[in-house]
Amino acid sequence: MPTTTPPAPPIDASLIARLQGAGQSHLLRFAPTLTPDRRAALLAQIEGLDLSAIPSLVETYVKAKPTFSLAASVEPAPYYPNNHASKSRAWDRARFEKAGQDLIRAGRVACFTVAGGQGTRLGYDGPKGCYPAGAVSRKPLFQLFAEQILAHSRRSGKDVPWYVMTSPLNHDATVAFFRANDFFGLPPSSVMCFPQGVMPSFDMKTGRVLLAAPDEIATNPDGHGGSITALHKSGAIADMKRRGITTLSYFQVDNATVQALDPAFLGLHASAPDSSAEMSSKMIPKAYAEEKLGLFCSCNGRTEVIEYSDLPMDLQRQTLPDGTLRFLAGSIAVHAMSVEFIERLATDPRFSLPYHRAEKKVPCIDPETGEKVDPASPNGVKLERFVFDALPLCRASIVYETDRIEEFAPIKNAAGVDSPESCTRLQTERAARWLKAAGIEAPLTSDGKPDCTLEISASTALCASDLVSTDAGRAAVTRLRSSPIPRGANILI
Ligand code: UTP
Repeated sequence: MPTTTPPAPPIDASLIARLQGAGQSHLLRFAPTLTPDRRAALLAQIEGLDLSAIPSLVETYVKAKPTFSLAASVEPAPYYPNNHASKSRAWDRARFEKAGQDLIRAGRVACFTVAGGQGTRLGYDGPKGCYPAGAVSRKPLFQLFAEQILAHSRRSGKDVPWYVMTSPLNHDATVAFFRANDFFGLPPSSVMCFPQGVMPSFDMKTGRVLLAAPDEIATNPDGHGGSITALHKSGAIADMKRRGITTLSYFQVDNATVQALDPAFLGLHASAPDSSAEMSSKMIPKAYAEEKLGLFCSCNGRTEVIEYSDLPMDLQRQTLPDGTLRFLAGSIAVHAMSVEFIERLATDPRFSLPYHRAEKKVPCIDPETGEKVDPASPNGVKLERFVFDALPLCRASIVYETDRIEEFAPIKNAAGVDSPESCTRLQTERAARWLKAAGIEAPLTSDGKPDCTLEISASTALCASDLVSTDAGRAAVTRLRSSPIPRGANILI
């Protein structure tokens, strides 16, 4: 007997009215032509939108461009200098490092990586965490972090759970990658991947939500600030509470040399006298005034990150009598966060983070004709939340200085600044520095840079002193003593 496809159920009149009210009726333009399955998928996507919020989002962020207003008082944020013996602010490194180690040993700390970005600038076909970033080994970014977490877990005798935020666009590929690689030696029960939310992408001119296809709304991940809601909605916060986790070590997926766990930083966050232990940050000194890093500022007494494009250039160029930049503290998006603070932000609407507007090229279809549009210039507005907007919501927040070569080797672009090539160079410089401190010289070029490519595995050393204080570190140094590093060599240590 021939089968007939059942007719698609009529569209709920209240949905039609709500779409009209939000100025988004065009989303149903092609619904009558869709198969029941595809129509149901489109309707589910529309139901997932917060239609009541759309008109004000369009007015505030799409039709208007919100302007940044500088606080009445903007000062450089104070920070704990990397040199704990610095005259500017001496602090007891041994005490805070121990406090951080105690937290890890007590099983209170988890790692949290935001990996839901689209990585458009790098243009890599796959989740960025799968990118082969190891200078010599070509290990993927996820593996570089996993090996650090494993080394810390072994040393502390406690599993360190790892939460990885993906997006609906890369979640399945990320999970499949972890599975295919046996979670890089971590217990699978300690790794939790969960997708962040998305926002609809808007037509820049009309404020209408763009359609990616007749049956699909164009969306974008809702920014790393979306992690606050996603941690809560996914059940990750509940999972942390079950495990007794109080503190998250937050970092981005594209920084190959980030310290996944830094005991001194965690200790400062948890117990420095001026910390609320809600959210703390790491900074590096900006290399030059125009460097495109957000800046830690104290705005009316509260620590904030001001984007480099928002802080007036004359302020960014100000120098102190010794010539250093007055606004020096550049953000590298590394934070320590309390689970309780995240839960408060996620559940109390008074703490919801603002949106930031970005103009982007968004492939879509013409809502009148259904024809594909591949824009040559930005046609869409994407709305994202940024995690650093949580800083001024803390009761108090501290900043800790770290060293660029030690832990900032981002991969953002395919070439040039912050590229795989610069990342390889920085990994090599760091390895050469650690080896030098252990008495091993790498061959140098005439300008003093390593004339070779080096990478030190986390299983060998997590920091310079491990090369002299651990068995694995000392064994590596002994091997290198017996066969010095030749020029042009590629060596995984
Ligand atoms: P970027 O701002 O560098 O964005 O993200 P991106 O999407 O990775 O790259 P481009 O701009 O498209 O080239 C900084 C960090 O925040 C994460 C990224 O995965 C990266 O670790 N992120 C960004 C998210 O997790 N979700 C987002 O919605 C945006």
